[in-house]
Amino acid sequence: MKIINVRTSRPYDVIIERDSLKKSGHLISDIIKSKKAVIITDDTVNKLYSGTLLNSLSENGIEASVFVFPHGEQSKNLTVLGKIFDFLCEKRITRSDFLIALGGGVVGDITGFAAASFLRGIEFIQIPTTLLAQVDSSVGGKTAIDIAGGKNLVGAFKQPALVICDSDTLHTLPQEELSCGMAEVIKYGMIRNEKLFEITETHNISNIHKVMDEIVYTCIDIKRNIVENDEFDKGERMILNFGHTLGHAIEGWHNYKNYTHGMGVAVGMCMITERFCTPEITERLKKCIESYKLPISTEAPLNELLPYCSTDKKCESDSISYIVCEKIGSAEIRRVSVSEFEKLMEG
Ligand code: NAD
Ligand code: GLY
Repeated sequence: MKIINVRTSRPYDVIIERDSLKKSGHLISDIIKSKKAVIITDDTVNKLYSGTLLNSLSENGIEASVFVFPHGEQSKNLTVLGKIFDFLCEKRITRSDFLIALGGGVVGDITGFAAASFLRGIEFIQIPTTLLAQVDSSVGGKTAIDIAGGKNLVGAFKQPALVICDSDTLHTLPQEELSCGMAEVIKYGMIRNEKLFEITETHNISNIHKVMDEIVYTCIDIKRNIVENDEFDKGERMILNFGHTLGHAIEGWHNYKNYTHGMGVAVGMCMITERFCTPEITERLKKCIESYKLPISTEAPLNELLPYCSTDKKCESDSISYIVCEKIGSAEIRRVSVSEFEKLMEG
């Protein structure tokens, strides 16, 4: 078992261990006194893993009910959040009870926001079951839902009480979801850790499971360090957005249909690197990305993507931040006016 202690305003542990879902009840009862919980999950994950979690909770005297919603980003909204609140009232959840997010980033984000706002805040545990959620969304305390005006526009910072990463759960992930998580893993290598990048470039989508625990540990440790330095996203944390400004624009151009976040981030990283870095670095990045069945270019014309960039959350008044890795393992935040960014990208 590997443990990473995240020292944010509310410190907590991230436990990384194969097969840890089976002992999650014991791990949770070590840190939370209440014997009453609500598990929030989606319909796919519910069928695969709720049974194991319920058994483990019950073995440790924790009584839990399960709230299930349809899988996918379209559930991360106010309607589902309202139904979660109604369920919590129906189950008479009090301030000392807690929620468990069992699933990917969608489950983690909406459960975290429910925990941040129900009764003005109750504890929650993250049990991430996608690679993206294990290496990124379950750690760091960003929670949110989507509204008509855009993705993740309503949310709160709410750190979990505990995160349990069982990499065995990743074996049931469809390949596209594994690829999506790998885009974020490659990002961590590019921004902070050349050795991690080398591990990703010497493996591929078929054999990456062999080194999964090491990868998950390294990515979380990088995120821990960044989040500890900038919990509320005022500066350094922005480097986690490498490839994301253009990535979100590409996802938006595709109307978020048949185009994953990981595909957008992969192309976004290539476009920025191609524009600002050496051909050698660009070549290494592209080769690595392709070995995880992710795209390295987009059919979306640049002039149609740029308007999406200026409406991104990373855009403040008339300026935009973008991240460049001139050397693998090291990132720099650059801030320019929106028109300057357009000129640079078109140039
Ligand atoms: P997701 O939660 O929709 O999961 C992807 C799919 O995989 C779903 O259909 C789900 O049912 C299925 N699934 C989950 N675990 C599975 C398993 N073990 N086996 C088989 N199928 C499984 O998507 P995601 O990629 O995990 O997360 C994306 C979300 O995370 C977005 O809403 C994004 O905004 C958010 N996010 C948040 C942060 C943050 O810091 N809070 C960071 C990055 C992304
Ligand atoms: N996923 C970006 C962040 O946590 O800041």
